[in-house]
Amino acid sequence: MKRPRDSRPWARVAIKKISQLVKHELHTYLEPHGQTHLLAHWDALAPHEQQQLAKQIHEIDFPLMARLHRQGGAGVDWTELAQRAEPPPAYRLNGEGRTCSLEDVRRPGEVALSAGKIGVILVAGGQGSRLGFDHPKGMFPIGPISGASLFQVLFEKVIARSRRHGVRIPLYLMTSSATHEQTIEYLREHNHFGLSADDVKIFCQGTMPAVDLRTGRLLLEEKGKIFKNPDGHGGMLAALAKSGGLADARRRGIEQFFYCQIDNPLVSMCDPEFLGYHLIAGADVSTQVVAKRDLRDKVGNVAIIDGRMQVIEYSDLNPLSDEIVGRKTSDGKPVFWAGSIAVHVFDRTFLERMSDHAEGLAFHAAKKAVPHVDVSGQRIEPEQPNAIKFERFIFDLLPAARNGIVVEVDESLAFAPLKNASTEKTDTKETVQGARMAVERAWLRSADVRIGDQVPIEISPLFAQDADDVKKQSGRLPKAIDRSTYLTPDALSP
Ligand code: UTP
Repeated sequence: MKRPRDSRPWARVAIKKISQLVKHELHTYLEPHGQTHLLAHWDALAPHEQQQLAKQIHEIDFPLMARLHRQGGAGVDWTELAQRAEPPPAYRLNGEGRTCSLEDVRRPGEVALSAGKIGVILVAGGQGSRLGFDHPKGMFPIGPISGASLFQVLFEKVIARSRRHGVRIPLYLMTSSATHEQTIEYLREHNHFGLSADDVKIFCQGTMPAVDLRTGRLLLEEKGKIFKNPDGHGGMLAALAKSGGLADARRRGIEQFFYCQIDNPLVSMCDPEFLGYHLIAGADVSTQVVAKRDLRDKVGNVAIIDGRMQVIEYSDLNPLSDEIVGRKTSDGKPVFWAGSIAVHVFDRTFLERMSDHAEGLAFHAAKKAVPHVDVSGQRIEPEQPNAIKFERFIFDLLPAARNGIVVEVDESLAFAPLKNASTEKTDTKETVQGARMAVERAWLRSADVRIGDQVPIEISPLFAQDADDVKKQSGRLPKAIDRSTYLTPDALSP
């Protein structure tokens, strides 16, 4: 039906009245929390922007934000905690802790893989702010010769593992509001790098507002939008449960999840030995560690506190005194020797049990520079930290594990994270590529292929996952490689 022309001014007046009523209601709601500045630009917003802002305001737990600001985070006394910490017992590379052969450790891992009981959780929701890359970090071209992205490398590792064991391995991929749309589009464009779309379950984590460092006020990203950041990798559990991922895994008969991060292309995907340790111990959670090279390495510190496994993040431990960070046991061993590389195995039933408490995981605070719009409408681009962001960490699940184990791996073989832009010294594209090439040259040498330290090499996970895979194909390999070479299944004659 055609609308009478003279009704429009009335409609406009009515909409304006409603808008003012809503503004009044929101103002009354925000006043006791000292957050009425969020309405500073209300009158200049279009109706749909006002709706969006009102919805955001109603979703925020303001008492929680006030408490977190007061505490500057979880309110933990790290000095006191670090003084009580003991080193974790672990399956060490030198055989310590192990009572059977490595073959016997691997076997249950391989059996579980072949029975289709293993799924992968890959977290890729971070903002990658240190890297300074304009897209989700997973799209970063890390292949030294192929330019293959981190997504491609890790997806191919899942495919390689599933081919070896003749099963489908579902991949639960976590994104965030910062990475979701682009990730979906990119993976679709690339056909999920050969993984069946049915086996790639993409789920988006939650968000958390940041507060002004000084005042505790929330920040406006735009005049009608509150700034929120992804709620940390600890947001994984709540998001996996909410998205139906946990239920999907149960339906498929998945019993353990191999958990890893998008930024470590050296990870040994679904490593049978690691899975084996977990299964033999009947653990809820297992975690891979490296022996720290330096007291203040930038890794989480795995320790036992009050009989429970716990991780103290480097940002919490490293500001403490040398005396505390360098504590030794009575027999002279460092307490904080075990650096977490964020590779875990979680029992599905443990995650199910914990999913009811996922929202209870503590928030950790980090001071960051957050661009925003101020009350006068001016865009502020701070160079120094002006805000506190709050994130949950996945390793805060560890203390709840009835039985958690620690497995040491060799850093040079298993851990090379991409964190920083090339202007930094560590964890850059160059250091990651260098670490990967060193591993792959060693695989080739173990198959009697000569290759110099300066020769660029890249081995597709679809060609080989480890030295044994390379050895099995040694008949197809040249005796020497003396120029830049990318080994894929099709690169060599059959
Ligand atoms: P980092 O804490 O290193 O963050 O994440 P980042 O986003 O990679 O980099 P910066 O700190 O902004 O420079 C470690 C892993 O956890 C994931 C990241 O994608 C990465 O795989 N992560 C982090 C999430 O999935 N969600 C988050 O909210 C934070």
